[in-house]
Amino acid sequence: MPIPRSVRTAVFPVAGLGTRFLPATKASPKEMLPVVDKPLIQYAVEEAYAAGVRHMVFVTGRSKRAIEDHFDTAYELESELLAAGKQALLDVVRAVAPDDMDCSYVRQPRSLGLGHAVLCAAHIVGEQPFAVLLADDLMVGPPGGQPVLAQMVEAFESLGRSVLAVQEVPLDQVRRYGIVAGPAAGDQLIKIERIVEKPAPEAAPSRMGVAGRYILTPRIFDEIRNQPAGAGGEIQLTDAIARLMTKERVYAYQYSGKRYDCGSKEGFLEATVELALQHPQMGAAFRTYLKSLAL
Ligand code: G1P
Repeated sequence: MPIPRSVRTAVFPVAGLGTRFLPATKASPKEMLPVVDKPLIQYAVEEAYAAGVRHMVFVTGRSKRAIEDHFDTAYELESELLAAGKQALLDVVRAVAPDDMDCSYVRQPRSLGLGHAVLCAAHIVGEQPFAVLLADDLMVGPPGGQPVLAQMVEAFESLGRSVLAVQEVPLDQVRRYGIVAGPAAGDQLIKIERIVEKPAPEAAPSRMGVAGRYILTPRIFDEIRNQPAGAGGEIQLTDAIARLMTKERVYAYQYSGKRYDCGSKEGFLEATVELALQHPQMGAAFRTYLKSLAL
């Protein structure tokens, strides 16, 4: 039976420890770190929602309760804001979880890698295509254009095959990424013929690095189940995608927009500064402040 072409479900692997942001992440999830006024995970959820996704599946771990609370109703807060007549703030709080959005939570009991995290959601996703969003990668669509996942959903709807977001990365950074190579297959598309997880620069088949956005067909679950541990003793999603490619085509999509690597302090600071500059309420004042600094 052909699989549906609409993408209604997204998986958010959020079980990672976030050691690069210690001590900030000692007791709170790295996905709850705010960029300006929103936690990283909310940016990713909003991107999925804007792409038509209505079922958000979080693969969580110990000490990640704050994520569940964030997407739940906050009764005390809401009734206090209501009593105080603070409607604008109430709207901000309620907009975090729109009425037509469902959230599911599943735990990844051990840190066995991204592939394993995705597999933990298999029984919830079932036999339908789904998106994977890594909240560390904060993606911003081009000015006036569509957000990145919405662009990918459009590509998926016409291809009916898995689609990975890619961007060109500097050669000295290829070992941070899954790297893909293959011939062009139309506007912004590459038909992937090779994919390697975190290669050394001299072994990299190209400089096309996978960003943290995937649309996958459900067949990926069988590939992950049969996947031995790879780089770093982890069950890599990249290796399962390499096996999927032997059975059905997989495409890379050169998205329009910008990615901030909020898994690193540099990327996190860049996102903070640039999104603050674009902020409707505080952007102008922040620009004036930055200009006043003697840099
Ligand atoms: C993961 C993936 C990698 C991908 C990257 C994007 O790596 O394994 O293929 O390029 O996300 O951010 P991580 O950053 O979790 O080490």
